Amino acid sequence: MTASLSSSPAWQSYADAVHGASHRGDHLRVIEAAGLSVDLTAQAYSPELDAAALDLCAQQGLTQAIAQLFDGGQANWTEHRPAWHTALRAAEPPPSVAGPILTERQRVRDFVAAANANGDYKYVLHLGIGGSDWGPRMILRALRHQGISREVRFASNVDSHAVADSMHQLDPHSTLIIIASKSFTTTEPLANAQVAIHWLEDAGVADPLKQVVAITANVQAARDFGIAPERIFQFWDWVGGRYSLWSAIGALPVSLALGCDTFDQLLAGAAAMDDHFQHAPLSQNAPVQMALAGMANRSVMGFETLAVAPYDSRLTHLVPWAQQLEMESLGKVATRDGSPAGVPTGPVVWGMTGTDCQHTFFQWLHQDTAGAPVDFIFCERPDHRYEEHHRLLIANCLAQRAALLRGKSFDEALIECSALTSDPQEARVLAQHRIHPGRRPSNLIVLPRLTGHAMGALLALYEHKVFTQGVLWGINPFDQWGVEFGKALARRIIDELGQPGHAPELEDPSTRHWIEVLSRSAKPGA
Ligand code: F6P
Repeated sequence: MTASLSSSPAWQSYADAVHGASHRGDHLRVIEAAGLSVDLTAQAYSPELDAAALDLCAQQGLTQAIAQLFDGGQANWTEHRPAWHTALRAAEPPPSVAGPILTERQRVRDFVAAANANGDYKYVLHLGIGGSDWGPRMILRALRHQGISREVRFASNVDSHAVADSMHQLDPHSTLIIIASKSFTTTEPLANAQVAIHWLEDAGVADPLKQVVAITANVQAARDFGIAPERIFQFWDWVGGRYSLWSAIGALPVSLALGCDTFDQLLAGAAAMDDHFQHAPLSQNAPVQMALAGMANRSVMGFETLAVAPYDSRLTHLVPWAQQLEMESLGKVATRDGSPAGVPTGPVVWGMTGTDCQHTFFQWLHQDTAGAPVDFIFCERPDHRYEEHHRLLIANCLAQRAALLRGKSFDEALIECSALTSDPQEARVLAQHRIHPGRRPSNLIVLPRLTGHAMGALLALYEHKVFTQGVLWGINPFDQWGVEFGKALARRIIDELGQPGHAPELEDPSTRHWIEVLSRSAKPGA
């Protein structure tokens, strides 16, 4: 096995430069990319760090890896596949895949045009999970202010309470059911689809499958399910599940609800960020610089998590979308040659929209011994007429960033507390409670307005940041071997719950206990 990253020549210089850099946020660093402003001022910076980072990028072959990503090379090396989500949004897709891409794009447009012309489907019930759910769910929430022509409900958990909620007050006779699943073997959408089809049957829908479409890379499985070929929209193995928004996975629900033009804008925004990522010099490359800042925070400064705080309620689903993108891409055990990275990798991603986040966990962010870097996001212009309200929102975002960076010293706190008590000792004790360590890193991403183009650029920014971190850490951001084990055990437990037996892989006493208890309670008359 080759040496891990931590013992590589460029790494030690990079780590030393991070420690030696300024963490005071005193060097304005705003990168304009695809219409977004990415402000990295509150991250570690020094000319030496800039140079060491470029050396690390060179050592890890970043430039070559970016070229391979866009050329359809095997960026997903454990599954020997390309990761060609960028081809899906290219104005002119690469010739080797342009045919299928443009054909499916047109099939979606034709299906939506026919549905619009016929006045079909007042409602859409979307059944997918993970990368087949978060992207469409996020976009429809973010852009519904543009006006929606169909109500789209989402059910992802294999939980009939959730499915029932999503079907509440829908008219079965005018509901289209979308089964979105790349593999078309995932338990949740298929089980939920059975509930939804029964719901149609119970309402007297003569041929329920005529109100069902599939979006999948496994066309045969969808055919076997009983869905007609003309109602199956395809994407391909060379598109990762959590990178599939740009395929029919996003095109169909977004176009049905928001129109094909909005989806085209989404593609254009992502393509603009692709162009920036491919051609901007690394030191002026927004995804690369966000990736390096994140790596410095995670692998050198020891921050274990990253908080994402969109100051726009329409971006509420950006947080779970980013959680899956980052944690399912970077939460890995081995690097390319099988060896561990040797440094901390893949942060926990969490967060909440502002200003709710300020009243939920910013106390922790400001004064906890650890704290966390924060990605702040806001739109310069709102899509409502309440200008003063919007100023309040933005001012709070900027204030929280400034407070995290600036901090509050004991002396400053003592001045405050001395005005509260005449007892100097009490004032000193109180002041200890008001210290803010400060120099807590953050990014600020500013969108001009919340449009399809801006959303496309924002999502591609995060996709390329994650890809870059994968390259620098030596991690494959496009596989997800860690999700398979739990799924296999779930299938065993389902069998056991029906027929308790002896499954050696389920020997821990707690699992055994609950299988026995739940099997008894499931027995008729129990
Ligand atoms: O979470 C595991 C996972 O495989 C994700 O990578 C994927 O987005 C999700 O399950 C759904 O998979 P599918 O689209 O194949 O149903």
